[in-house]
Amino acid sequence: MNTPGSPLSLHSTPQGGFDQPFEMLEACHERVQRMLRLMQRLRLHLASMGCDEQARQAARDVIRYFDIAAPAHHEDEERHVFPPLLAAGLCVETVQRLQCEHQEMTALWPTVRLVLQRVADGAWQGFESDDEGTLERYVRLYDWHVAAENELIYPAAVQRLDAPAQAAMGEEMARRRGVR
Ligand SMILES: [Fe+2]
Ligand SMILES: [Fe+2]
Repeated sequence: MNTPGSPLSLHSTPQGGFDQPFEMLEACHERVQRMLRLMQRLRLHLASMGCDEQARQAARDVIRYFDIAAPAHHEDEERHVFPPLLAAGLCVETVQRLQCEHQEMTALWPTVRLVLQRVADGAWQGFESDDEGTLERYVRLYDWHVAAENELIYPAAVQRLDAPAQAAMGEEMARRRGVR
């Protein structure tokens, strides 16, 4: 399992930075996927090693990511990526599904978070009834979602947004995070 601190910083700036907002969004996806894999490894680690300090740190990292960075990422997409596609009548069904999934992720997160918080607090003594099913549902929800955005939605949105529109998008994303 990842050791504390290594690949889990939430504060490093993705390579593209806010001047390249779509690179930034893709970098966010890479981080989401790392966090989902970490969550999967945490389940295995708990089963074999129990709730040790490494497990507690991993749970804290995952909680922090999905508390802070994930909602900001969803807002980026809802403000800048989905509207131009809907306005142009492109990928409408997929965008509507992605919008629904953002709501499902938001609704499911508190339940996932409760499981992780027990680990982070060192209070985990084994998974309860549907804990693992809940974690699995959360991971699967993101799997298709991120793939659809990377493969279909981002390329379509990039084509709809000229350079000034992308610059304005990057500025708004930075401003909302208090970077500029
Ligand atoms: Fe999304
Ligand atoms: Fe996304």
